[in-house]
Parts: sequence; C-alpha cells; structure tokens
Amino acid sequence: MTDKTDRPADKAPSGSNAMWGGRFAAGPDAIMEAINASIGYDRRLGAQDIAGSQAHAAMLAAQGIIEPNDAAAIRKGLLTVLSEIEGGSFAFSAALEDIHMNVESRLKEVIGAPAGRLHTARSRNDQVATDFKLWTRDQIDAAAQGLEALIRALLVQAEQGADWVMPGFTHLQTAQPVTWGHHMMAYVEMFGRDLSRLRDARVRMNECPLGAAALAGTSFPIDRHMTAQTLGFDRPSANSLDAVSDRDFALEFLSAASICAMHLSRFAEELVIWSSAQFRFVTLSDRFSTGSSIMPQKKNPDAAELIRAKIGRIMGAMVALFTVMKGLPLAYSKDMQEDKEQVFDAADTLMLALAAMEGMVRDMSANREALAAAAGSGFSTATDLADWLVRALNLPFRDAHHVTGALVALAESKGCDLPDLSLEDMRAVHGDITEDVFDVLGVDNSVRSRTSYGGTAPDQVRAQVARWKDLLK
Ligand code: ARG
Repeated sequence: MTDKTDRPADKAPSGSNAMWGGRFAAGPDAIMEAINASIGYDRRLGAQDIAGSQAHAAMLAAQGIIEPNDAAAIRKGLLTVLSEIEGGSFAFSAALEDIHMNVESRLKEVIGAPAGRLHTARSRNDQVATDFKLWTRDQIDAAAQGLEALIRALLVQAEQGADWVMPGFTHLQTAQPVTWGHHMMAYVEMFGRDLSRLRDARVRMNECPLGAAALAGTSFPIDRHMTAQTLGFDRPSANSLDAVSDRDFALEFLSAASICAMHLSRFAEELVIWSSAQFRFVTLSDRFSTGSSIMPQKKNPDAAELIRAKIGRIMGAMVALFTVMKGLPLAYSKDMQEDKEQVFDAADTLMLALAAMEGMVRDMSANREALAAAAGSGFSTATDLADWLVRALNLPFRDAHHVTGALVALAESKGCDLPDLSLEDMRAVHGDITEDVFDVLGVDNSVRSRTSYGGTAPDQVRAQVARWKDLLK
C-alpha cells in the first residue's frame, strides 16, 4: 500500500500517529499499515470528503462553535487541497490511512492550527458514511443517465421495426410471430424498471449521516439540518447509531445494479445468438465487433459477450458486501471499510456495460428479410390456425388444438409449412375448413391480429413507443 508519492505522516513523538497518537507509544507494524490503509482506493472520495468538510465547517461557524476566521481559513485551505487532488499533485500517504486523514493532515500543512478545529463534533465514522453516500448518489444518477440513453436507442430500433415480423420464442423454440419493435420494447420495460429501482433507492438513501459523530451524536450545538441541506440531502438521518453503521444504500445500489446487469446479460446473449451465421437476425457494427487472428472470415460479438459476463463482477460485489455486513453488531466496525472497492468496481463495470450496450444498439441493423423468413418457418402460425378453427367452425379450443396438431404433422411429413398445404390436404383432416383459413396463416396477419393491450401488433408497439417517449421527456 506504500505509495511512490508517500509523504511522511505528520508524526507525533515516538512515531505514533498524529491523528490519534496520544495514547500510543509506537507506530504500526508495516503489515498493520498494509491491512489497515484504504487510501489506495478511497482517494476516489476526495471531492466528496472535501464537500462534507466544507458543509461541516460552515455549520460549525454558523452555530458559533468555531470562530469565523478559523472557518474562513478552513474554507480556503480545503479549496487548495481540492485543487491539488484534482490537479494530480496531492501526495497521498498510506501512513495516513485513508482519504479523511490525508485531507485533514494536508489542510494542517496548508493553513496550520485552524485545521485542528475541523474535526469538532464529527468522527471519521459519520464522515465516511457521508462521503460514500455522496459518491454512491452520483453513481446512481450516472447509471440512470446511462439507462435513459440505452432506452432511447432501443426506442429508435423499436420505432423503425414496429411492423417487422420475426419469430417469437419460448424454450428457444419458435412459438408465435412477433414484431421486432415488440421485442425491443420488452427490453425497454426491463431497463425502465431498472431506472425506477435506482430512483427509488436514491429517495430512500438521501438522508445525511454527518453529525452522528462516532455513534452517539454530540454535545456540541450542531445544526444537522443545515449540513444535510448544504449537501443536497432531504434530511439528517434520525438515529446516530444507524447513521454510522448503515450501508443499505450501497447494498441497494448493488442490488439494483445486479438486476440491471442481469438484464444486460440476457440482451447480450440474444445479440450473440442473433449475430451468428445460423440466425443472421442482426448485423453488429465493426465498431462493436472484433476479428480473429487466425480465422479471416470471423467477426466476433466480443462486446456482447463481455457485457454478458459482467454480471459476475457486479453480483459478486453485491454478495461480497452482504457477507461483510451480515452479523456486524452496531455501530461502526472496520469491516465496513471493505465496502468501497466492491461498490467502486461494480459502478465502473455497470457504467461501461451500459455505454457499450447503448453503442451496440445504436449501431446494429436488424436484417428484415432474415427475420421475416424465420418468422414464417417452424409452424409459427399454428396458434392462429387453432384460433381460426374456434372462431370460424365453433370448435372447442381443445379440439381445434388437436386438429391443428394433425395439420402440423401433415405439413411436417410433406416437408412444407402450414400456408403451403392445399385446401384438399386440410379438408382431409377436417372437412369444414374453408379457403378463408389462409388469411390467418400469414405472419403479417398474425402479428396484426394481436391487438390486445401490450400485444405484438404494430399499433400496440407504436403506442408503447409513444408512451415511453413521453415518459422520458
Ligand atoms: N477508512 C475508514 C472506512 O473506510 C474510515 C472510518 C474509520 N473509522 C474508524 N473509527 N476507524 O471505513
């Protein structure tokens, strides 16, 4: 964990830590430092840590807990530290353990004594909970944006192919014809739920832990409503023990991210299948495919395959954090430091997968002819035929099912599809069948007839596209 840019800790006498070295006679073992330090990753919380400190210092001054001139020095100094972090010149130190102590120690170097007043009425426990919540909240907003962009890309596909027929599958066996637009809109619904899950989580998490201090609150006359408001929270969290030990917000984010990654994985799998030479339903763009170093003809759907796999990391992070949190007594335990790397990696992975999927969907072209050819094969209109027997001949559905089964078997034995059977062939199975039956055997008629709400009929698809466009306004 030692950094190349290591700056020695502001050492207390005898080498113990400047932040809490008062009761320590010796500094930590190197292994202790290695297992304890989180600065290698929690440096990503720099901006959030400083925002939290700014809000806290302003509140301390407003409440008369620190002097206005100390507050002004702290405010200015924190801006300097922030610009150092953002400019890449900040020297992170593993000896200073984490982002909170790195920032405070640097602040002391920059402004001197007033820095020591900043930690009044707070603890790293409420500080880290606040920083991490602010970071996770930003990720929720970014993921929501990524999802919206993906949904918009799907809407373009759906609108263009609202009446393009394709086979619908159950058990990956041809079931009934559907429209390309309908299939795209199924994913719009899934990603739309992911969006609403993230938004729900954001509402629930938006309570500010700052001011809970170590675990019990503080005897200083702080104004938690003020810090909550400054940091964009709806209110301060109502129980200080809960505030410092709650990681539900991270778990909810990981849960919502896992469900979203599962949806991405399912869609990616379809793209892998559809782009194969056997299906040819879609052509993925060169921008989102790769070649093979040995087989010149190959164009591989690597982006789709990687998206299909990414759920492993995201769900792994969720399981890891649940496992860290289970069985932890109140309030803060150092175990909870293990929360960050999981959430960081899951968030990075989700953003990348969303962006890659959006790009792929934008670029891909559906092969209308291949879709239509496949839609008509595999006796896909057998249900339409059975429904016709019920409607036109007044057969009970079970009998109609039986007659249709016999007709499918007949077509199969002749090596043709249902619309290729002659009227005589059909009458041999059921004498009352008339010429009209051929109207329902075509795939276009089949999808056009499925006008029930949420059904595959092109008009239904267009109505859903319009509804979503309206929702995203
Ligand atoms: N680096 C710590 C974490 O991420 C910060 C809080 C430490 N608090 C403490 N009492 N040791 O959880």
